[in-house]
Amino acid sequence: MHDLDFRRHRRLRQSAGIRTMVRETRLSPSDLMYPLFVVEGEGIKNEISSMPGVFQISLDYLKEEIEEVVSLGIPSVILFGVPSHKDAVGSEAYNDEGIVQKATRFIKEYFPELVVVVDNCLCQYTDHGHCGVIRDGQVDNDPSLELLTKTAVSQAKAGADIIAPSNMMDGFVAAIRQGLDEAGYTHVPIMSYGVKYASAFYGPFRDAAHSTPQFGDRKTYQMDPANRLEAMKEALTDIEEGADFLIIKPALSYLDIIREVRNEVFVPIVAYNVSGEYAMIKAASKNGWIDEKKTVLEMFTSMKRAGANIIMTYHAKEAARWMTEEL
Ligand code: PBG
Repeated sequence: MHDLDFRRHRRLRQSAGIRTMVRETRLSPSDLMYPLFVVEGEGIKNEISSMPGVFQISLDYLKEEIEEVVSLGIPSVILFGVPSHKDAVGSEAYNDEGIVQKATRFIKEYFPELVVVVDNCLCQYTDHGHCGVIRDGQVDNDPSLELLTKTAVSQAKAGADIIAPSNMMDGFVAAIRQGLDEAGYTHVPIMSYGVKYASAFYGPFRDAAHSTPQFGDRKTYQMDPANRLEAMKEALTDIEEGADFLIIKPALSYLDIIREVRNEVFVPIVAYNVSGEYAMIKAASKNGWIDEKKTVLEMFTSMKRAGANIIMTYHAKEAARWMTEEL
């Protein structure tokens, strides 16, 4: 034994104190961003069956929800609208009296310090469920940009702090930046869903937001999960066009992409821990097959270790509580 030459890594793992000292990644409620589904109507608080603990809520329930988020130290929410009227051109998305615009004004009135991010897409608002307008059976890029820009301006007018376009049309960052600037909103940042894969992990979200495409799929605009170089191309294009943040989505199966993008760009990166990822954890923990708290915190640690600066997650409220308990 005495001439065996090896390194003792366990020295730095021997006590909780030393492990705390050498820990490279830490979690805080301030890392989190909480998604909310806002619906028209009153007295509505519908739990999404595939997303236990997540609700579609009407404006009258928004205040208590936001109070909870703020009290937990979560600095931002992202709003998804579930309108009661849909049409071919998604008119409710850019209606100044639309559900997201109303929810934004409401939150900013009562909780001006909470950062309100708004999702910018047409799929919840179109009767065909695609993220742009349709011509000859195809999602038509450039006319969609005009509607998305109108939507962004209407959202900024309602008081949105950050616009988060998730539609994956080419040129959406350039178009929205120009539209915001021309309307006097040069100060409103764009958080681009620049790297968004055509993923099976979005299933439960489409139940929550009623945004399933009525024909075809999203593969002509969202990315092929097999591609890595294309993610870099998308990310760099968005930066050139003026994106202030980049979202990478989904998170768990794409940690390699988060790391690679992190190494190449200098904007904050958001990992979107999507609905299917949430549903899997909920289902397994309900069955007693995993320890929910430990699993969720481990997942978040891996996202931050991969390079994410912000984690967008349906677990945000419970996770913020767990993180505070850990301290
Ligand atoms: C809208 C949008 C989707 C998600 C966020 N914004 C659905 C989709 O692209 O089909 C998915 C989020 C999730 O699964 O949690 N374009």
